[in-house]
Parts: sequence; C-alpha cells; structure tokens
Amino acid sequence: MLHRRIILNEDQIPTKWLNLIPYLKKPPAPYLDPSNGEPMSPEKMAVIFPMGLLQQEMSPDPWIDIPEEILEVLTTWRPTPLVRAYSLEQALETPAKIYYKNESVSPPGSHKPNTAVAQAYYNMKEGVARLTTETGAGQWGSALSYACNHFGLECRVYMVRISYEQKPYRKSMIHTWGAEIFPSPSDQTNAGRAILEKDPDTPGSLGIAISEAVEDAVMHDNTKYSLGSVLNHVLHHQTIIGLEAKKQFELVDDFPDIVVGCVGGGSNFAGLAFPFMVDKANGRDIQIIGSEPYACPTMTKGQLTYDFGDTAQMTPLIRMHTLGHDFIPPGIHAGGLRYHGVAPLISAAIEENLMEPRAIHQTEAFKAAITFARSEGIIPAPETSHAIAVVVQEAIKAREEGKEKTIVFNFSGHGHFDMASYDRFLAGDIEDYEYPMEKIQEALARLPKIGV
Ligand SMILES: Cc1ncc(COP(=O)(O)O)c(C=O)c1O
Repeated sequence: MLHRRIILNEDQIPTKWLNLIPYLKKPPAPYLDPSNGEPMSPEKMAVIFPMGLLQQEMSPDPWIDIPEEILEVLTTWRPTPLVRAYSLEQALETPAKIYYKNESVSPPGSHKPNTAVAQAYYNMKEGVARLTTETGAGQWGSALSYACNHFGLECRVYMVRISYEQKPYRKSMIHTWGAEIFPSPSDQTNAGRAILEKDPDTPGSLGIAISEAVEDAVMHDNTKYSLGSVLNHVLHHQTIIGLEAKKQFELVDDFPDIVVGCVGGGSNFAGLAFPFMVDKANGRDIQIIGSEPYACPTMTKGQLTYDFGDTAQMTPLIRMHTLGHDFIPPGIHAGGLRYHGVAPLISAAIEENLMEPRAIHQTEAFKAAITFARSEGIIPAPETSHAIAVVVQEAIKAREEGKEKTIVFNFSGHGHFDMASYDRFLAGDIEDYEYPMEKIQEALARLPKIGV
C-alpha cells in the first residue's frame, strides 16, 4: 500500500518559531520614519501594533517560544499533513519525488491563520478590543476574523474591491465569524474617499486597502492594525510549516533538493522555506524557488529600495523589492499575489542568493492547477497554483535529465472560493499578461527619495 500522508501527532507540534535574521550575513535594513528618514522607534510603531509583536519584529534571537494558548488553537488543524503526491508524479511521468505540505486543511482554508491566531492572541493580551486589516484574495481576512472570534476581539476587514466582487462567499465566511467587511476603496476612510473621488471605477489594490485599515486603526480607540504578510513577525509565525515538514521528512528518511512556494508578501513561502534556508546558509545544496505572477513581478522586475507599504503613504518606509506604492495591478485572479512589495526578509534572502525568484504566467498556473486537481484531487487556490507551476517545470526537467530529485512545495490554500476564475479559465477566457517595464519605471520614479 502507498504511504501518502506523513502525519505528526498533536504533541509533536513545534513549540518555537524560527527567526531567520541571525542566519543572514546582513540583517535587513531598519524601517524608516518617513518624516525624518531615521529608524522607526518601537514606541511610534506601537500606535498600530502591540508590543508583544513588535518585540518579535525586532528580535535577534533565533527561536521564539510559542505560548501554550496559541498552540491550543493551532492544534485544531495542526500539525498539517506532508503528502507524497504519487498521483501527480504519475501524471507527469517524472522520476522526481513530489511532496506538498497541505495548509489548506485549516478552518479558513489556507496558511493564514498560523499568524492570525498569534496576532489576535498578543493583541488580546494587551487589552486591544478591535483589529482592522486588509485582504486581497480573502484568505487573510477570513483567517483574522476566525482568530478574532476565538479571542473575543472585534474585527473589520477592507477587501480589495475586484476580489470582493469576484469572491462573494469570502464575505459570507467573514460575516459568519462575526467580523465586518467593506470593499476597498470604501467610503469609510479619508484614504478610500480620496481614491474613489479620483477614480470611482478603480479595482482597488492591497496598497489602498492597507491605507484604509491603518487609518481606521489610528482613528479609533483601542484598535490596532494587523498585517497578514510582509513583516518579520508574520514570517516567523509561519515557520511552523517548515519546522513540521522537517520532522516529517525525518520520518520517511528523505530531504528536499528543491523547495517551492508562491510569493505575495512572502509569508507562506517563508513559512516552508526558511527552516530549509538555514541548512542552505550552512552550506547544504538546496534549490529554493519563490514564484510570482508575470502580472505583478515584484521580485523579478522590482527595484530593491525603500518604499511605503501602502498607497496613501501611512506606513513606515520599508527596504524591499517594490513596483512602487501606487502600483495598481491588473485584475488577474491570484488576488493574494498582487502586492507591490515583498517581505524585507525575502528581499534579503534574494540578495544573499539563498533563493531564486521565478515569474509564472497565469495560464501556466491554471494548467498546473488542473493537472493537480485531476491527479491529487484538491482544487488549489490560484496563488498556490503559481507554486505548482514551478513544481511541474522542475518535475519535467528531472524527467528530461533522468534525475530522481525530491521536491517539496507549500500547498498554501484551496480554491473553493475561486471557482469563478476556474470557470473563466476552462471557458478559454483567461489571457496572459506581462506587466510592462515602462509602467514599472513610471511608478519607480515616484518612489520616496529617502534612505536610498
Ligand atoms: C492561498 C494563498 N497563498 C498565498 C498567498 C500569498 O500571500 P503570502 O505571500 O503572504 O503567503 C495568499 C494571499 O492571500 C493566499 O491566500
């Protein structure tokens, strides 16, 4: 009988998160205060984030203890299975061994609650009553509403308008867990109203939704802001994925040659890849690939420099690969991969050659998703499909070279709320789009002239 699922017991769940920073040659550059170009003080950042999370954000320690109360919630669905994708291997006629870490088994359907639960917990501990956030694909907004419901916090979500229209059932899910949700730009904030006045038909963007959520947090008492990706603490929280995967590989006496994840802000990729990146930094030969859409080519065509994390320039300046904070991406379906920037830790990993970015066309991602759904059964989120496309490329390469490589990827979420985009793909209505270099250069000309 095939041994497909490699399972850990609940009591084998990792009890510490990994911090990649001590393993880098150079720590990531500090966040800067746009008003004076100086490093941002924790006190200033504490207006929107609780101290517990800010301490993790700045921590130099390689390991951070996971509080028992968080582990108790995570074991609702963790440890997640590491699955050997025998049927996909057969479909691709590859000698490669393909494994995926199935993060789609969480209540909202993705990796996002790994950090949502932690963030809601630290806010609750400091007496915060309400959290605001943005969401692209809707996975993050659902995850935070799930977590806020658990710890008794109110929650408001600003969802990028085009995704709000494409995925109406994410709204229902968010309402079911008791949170509020508005399409962004909305009439609820100054940032939203200003953008609507200039362009009433805008599809919205993650940058705009972040501006709205930050403004809302600053303007309301006892309210903080929560970000679903990009920041160091978010990436630390996600490392539970790769730490579990390492234990699971030990059980089958295997280890990956190739590690793959899709990159929006970078959190699911980091979650799987960072624990393996430590081995790479220590000299082990592992290929680590982060995939992104050609329609939002932050890592492959963006510039590594200081930029705002949001459109209305309310966040600190962050040194990262960026397409410019006023980048409005085309309405491709992988809503969660449409952010103009990326985590500073991902940018640092690219700079130190610990990973390689790769752009994927939308139709190639959908084709890979269909191959996966018809072999392994689960329907992937369009974001996840960008990782699967790389896995298919590498599995075919292994076949052509006759090499038995071990490949692992992060199955970051299911696509049950993305079926409208599958309908469009199956009807032949989805086309490839490559974001033009001229537009990137135009946006980069508007970058802040600070800290460059
Ligand atoms: C299923 C899924 N995968 C990946 C992503 C990309 O985000 P990140 O790069 O932070 O993992 C998202 C974001 O919404 C998502 O919903």
